[in-house]
Amino acid sequence: MATSPVGQPVDRVDGPKKVSGAARYAADQQIKNLAYGIPVVSTIGAGQITAIDSAEAERMPGILGVLHHGNVGELFRPAQGFEAQTRASETRPPFEDNNVYYNGQYIALVLSETFEQGQAAAAKVRVTYDTKKPLVKIEQAPTPDNPPARKFSRGNVEQAFAAAPVKIDETYITPVETHNPMEMHATVAVWENEKFTLYESTQGVVNHHNTISQMLGMPLESVQVLSPFVGSGFGCKLFPWPQSLMAAVAARKLNRPVKVTVPRSLMFTTVGHRPRTIQHVRLGATPDGKLTALSHEVLQHTSMVDDYVENCTEPTGMLYSCPNLLAVQHLVHLNVGTPTPMRGPGTTPGLWALESAMDELATKLNMDPLELRLRNYAEMDEGEDKPFSSKHLRECYQQGAERFGWGKRNPKIGSMRDGNLILGWGMATATWPAHGGGAQVHLRLLADGTARVSCATQDIGTGTYTIFAQVVSEKTGIPCDKIQVVLGDSSLPPGPTSGGSAATASFLPALVKACDAAVNTLAQVASKTDKSPFQNADPKSLKMTAGRLHAQDKAPESGVPFQQIIALRRLSGVDGLSGAPPDSATARKYSTHSFGAHFCEVAYDPEIVQLRVRRWLTVIDAGHIMNPKTGGNQITGGVVMGVGMGMFEQTIYDSRNGKPVNNNYADYLVPTNKDIPELECIFLDYPDLVLNEYGARGIGEIGLTGVASALAMAVYHATGVRIRELPITIDKLISSENMLRA
Ligand code: MOS
Repeated sequence: MATSPVGQPVDRVDGPKKVSGAARYAADQQIKNLAYGIPVVSTIGAGQITAIDSAEAERMPGILGVLHHGNVGELFRPAQGFEAQTRASETRPPFEDNNVYYNGQYIALVLSETFEQGQAAAAKVRVTYDTKKPLVKIEQAPTPDNPPARKFSRGNVEQAFAAAPVKIDETYITPVETHNPMEMHATVAVWENEKFTLYESTQGVVNHHNTISQMLGMPLESVQVLSPFVGSGFGCKLFPWPQSLMAAVAARKLNRPVKVTVPRSLMFTTVGHRPRTIQHVRLGATPDGKLTALSHEVLQHTSMVDDYVENCTEPTGMLYSCPNLLAVQHLVHLNVGTPTPMRGPGTTPGLWALESAMDELATKLNMDPLELRLRNYAEMDEGEDKPFSSKHLRECYQQGAERFGWGKRNPKIGSMRDGNLILGWGMATATWPAHGGGAQVHLRLLADGTARVSCATQDIGTGTYTIFAQVVSEKTGIPCDKIQVVLGDSSLPPGPTSGGSAATASFLPALVKACDAAVNTLAQVASKTDKSPFQNADPKSLKMTAGRLHAQDKAPESGVPFQQIIALRRLSGVDGLSGAPPDSATARKYSTHSFGAHFCEVAYDPEIVQLRVRRWLTVIDAGHIMNPKTGGNQITGGVVMGVGMGMFEQTIYDSRNGKPVNNNYADYLVPTNKDIPELECIFLDYPDLVLNEYGARGIGEIGLTGVASALAMAVYHATGVRIRELPITIDKLISSENMLRA
């Protein structure tokens, strides 16, 4: 092993299983005697169920029963502890009562021998309602919650804004966005020997396990959650949704395994969404571009039953230096399902507003938008009043500008051309908070010369399996293909949820400790084993390199392969288990964030009012990059989602009944290959050692932040139209009298 695998573009260790079909996802579980649960959902947006008549459905072939609020039995609400990992997406368990809070809410579950029999019967369940008119738009809602969901300030923003010589005062809107991972949610629940085994698609086996056991009222050891492969999450699989509980209850009732899958149409109602936001931004500045006032007021919706806060003001307090600042967030309650995090929650719509306003300010000042950002560069986190652990945003701007050729930009609208096409250039800042929590990892060095590392975290497609293998390989010298990584099982030592871009930074310290502990165990064994070359040696004087145990002051070749020590003692293996979670006291002294900059080019064809993204460059400062291949995937994947947010995605509700009208992949548009150019991502790779020994920060979400505002800036530059409500669609361009015409 010449070089350390950490930091190398190592191929995904789970790749062959995924491309060969060997990887089993939740709904793929083929279990003997499997029954099906087919959801029946409300067709009204608000009101009460007055009756459920399932008689006809129950007489149909293969029907095993119909579950609903009248017969579900007792289910409990969850404690909703985020830190304690006991959070459900909806606090209300399924079928709690006869209330209907949104269109598409589960109201019954038809249990059947086959999927088709269940579907046929589900269509015959007759439900009568006492129907109320649903509230589905923020503008229709009575009044926002008071006190606000979040509020912070510094200085005196009203005074400073009133006195500012240059002002921006605009409102930016983001629509509802729906989660559309390739793999939809599914649960296969097995009830055996008074114990549940749940095959799930979840971003957090530990949270899922804790929460479901609470809601079922069962001891922890009576529930096991398995989620070895996840076809992406993006936030909609962070916390359990009702289909999981419904499957469990049904399995117990029938005393046989039950599968419940969530069809694409129900992904639009029952697994959360990014809520709509209306964001009022006011900026005050001096004529030379120094911010004097920054006010960011956010109105968003949540459901009738839960307070979900889309934390749009997360970056507001720290992104720019500004003495007078106000951030306020208000919620209104609508008849929609409970919103949930969607990749880069809060910061992504928040930056859309903030960065768009910054561009408008630059335009007003006749200043380069990049220069405006540099003039207001935050040397410290002025909101938290803390230094940054590591911040290289200036270098992101500079490297990006140089590589993109930003200096050649002519700011005049419509001035940059390529034949008949008009080119528009945009840029924006990206940022995401960096965190790490606790975890435990188990490593066993085995007698056959391989290793097995395990932890109750999961790989949601981000490369977690690979990172585990890389670190164990780096610490022991065992090649990656001889390291078995076992994740996605709640019975393993507890690990982090794959969310908030915090999984890697959370398990790394524990993983390193587990490796050290296993090597230490091996050294202890070697020093106490007859015929061992290290008998009676001080274990501390030994180390493991290239898969060999050797004296610290000698070359690896002087030692022996580790499995020889294990064999000499007739052990099956030696173990290392990481101890207590790391103390984050040092980390708390710093503001820990990742940063980045996007640069993009759109081409606008004024004859047919067509917009195409032509070039995209992202420069990211996210600490040390453990694997530039899987890491680069994360960033460019985020940019693709950002293009979706910027130009395609919006969920539209029918105001009469609260039903999402574009609840399918044909009508809810996401970018396709044709919409995306070659994407370039550069990592600065400055280790942030405050977080862990590798200096790695998270990279799951940051790629998406800032994308939509960079696009809006480029579109303005090309077309003359300033779009303040996403997505940027042709109708919005055409209806503007500012649009440059052919
Ligand atoms: Mo991410 S929204 O924390 O899955």
